[in-house]
Amino acid sequence: MISEVIKQEIIAIVGPDNVLDSELNRFGYSYDSSFVPLLPKNNPDLVVRPLTTDEVSRVMVVACAHEIPVTPRGAGSGRTGGSIPQKGGISLCLDRMTQIVELDLRNMMVTAEAGVRTIDLYNHCAEKGLFFPPDPASWKFSTIGGNVAENAGGMRAVKYGVTKNYVMGLEVVLADGAILKTGGKAIKNVTGYDLTSLFTGSEGTLGVVTQALFRLIPMPKRRGTLQVMFRTLDDGCRTVHTVLQAGVLPAAAEIMDRTCLEVVARHRKTEIDPEVGASVIIEIDGEDDAALETQTKRIEAAAKECGAIAFRAARSQQEAEELWAVRRGISSAVAALAPNRIGEDISVPRDAFPEVVRRIGEISKKHGLPIAVYGHAGDGNIHPSILCDLAKPGEEERVHHAVDDIFAAALDVGGTLSGEHGIGITKRPYIAGALGEIGIRTLKAMKAALDPKGILNPEKIW
Ligand code: LAC
Ligand code: ZN
Repeated sequence: MISEVIKQEIIAIVGPDNVLDSELNRFGYSYDSSFVPLLPKNNPDLVVRPLTTDEVSRVMVVACAHEIPVTPRGAGSGRTGGSIPQKGGISLCLDRMTQIVELDLRNMMVTAEAGVRTIDLYNHCAEKGLFFPPDPASWKFSTIGGNVAENAGGMRAVKYGVTKNYVMGLEVVLADGAILKTGGKAIKNVTGYDLTSLFTGSEGTLGVVTQALFRLIPMPKRRGTLQVMFRTLDDGCRTVHTVLQAGVLPAAAEIMDRTCLEVVARHRKTEIDPEVGASVIIEIDGEDDAALETQTKRIEAAAKECGAIAFRAARSQQEAEELWAVRRGISSAVAALAPNRIGEDISVPRDAFPEVVRRIGEISKKHGLPIAVYGHAGDGNIHPSILCDLAKPGEEERVHHAVDDIFAAALDVGGTLSGEHGIGITKRPYIAGALGEIGIRTLKAMKAALDPKGILNPEKIW
């Protein structure tokens, strides 16, 4: 509980309209996009919506003095419960911090506040011919602070990497309210520990990211989208692998299984060929049409070699955008197929991708649980989605065993638990197996150094 006196102290900082504590508002900030069960214990006591870094800092000073837990939050697009309060306290929502502070054309860098939506940052830079590549599926509503805190990935990671590959510097409010600035515009910078990387992907447990400086790259002049149909997931996986081995680097290469395709077809009131078991959508880009043509030919050849049954290139930008919109919506569409969906985010070395997808098929059979499969085939990051009904007797246990097997398969081929969604709450029980005792000890030492009172996003990661 937060006393009336402390509440008034916070109101004096951000104004009465930006402190919410009705039952409904507290509930509204108790969940995100992770399907963590809705529980009253996940409600914050107060929702605080600062407008400036200075306000964030002053709120942290109050929180630190009274040892109030603070859970930073953006748009709630997270998949592992990172922004769900676990010990009440303050939900510190940065959604009012929406300034794009500077677009530095000469250095090709952009500075944005935490609450800027990913797509708005992309469009702002694109207008000037510059490209901000990280594109999580939720980019129409996810915000920059969350992208940094979770080190968000996306479709274009195959060719362009993930959020951390673009973060040059950060402004972070520490647990005691101090404002730390890391990095800067110098491309090479080895002065001290790499604090920018430390905070990127720290899931709000080490500090509150209020602003980020990103490097940009020139916008590719041409883009094309290809859709390939296969009889089996294995043929699709092998195609992506063959394409990469042949030295063609697509901007994105996404795979979907039959279950995902059926959801899409149902939504569009169309039918899919009964022969089709998987589809791969590929984005290619380059300097000119000739560059796209060369890539298209090589991808088509690889696809045919691996048994593709249909291959086509989107004929208009609208058609391409529709294909990608469908892909971005798959996660939510698949979730609607069963009372519960347990969505995973394993990431494996690229060459192990076909093998791990095969093993997921075996795990599904072994436990008698449907597992829809879609994900970022080009970079080895897949989202197996277990479709289940946890209210059924014995189901929860079977799901646990299936999840254990999925993680074991990922680790066995040299992969990891989470490629882009973070650990948060949902992957917490598995992290010791992935990082080992010394790994966890090191994480905890960093946490203790930066947040000795343990007020920042408590009970996350381990
Ligand atoms: C996706 C999200 C779930 O790839 O990461 O759709
Ligand atoms: Zn994803």
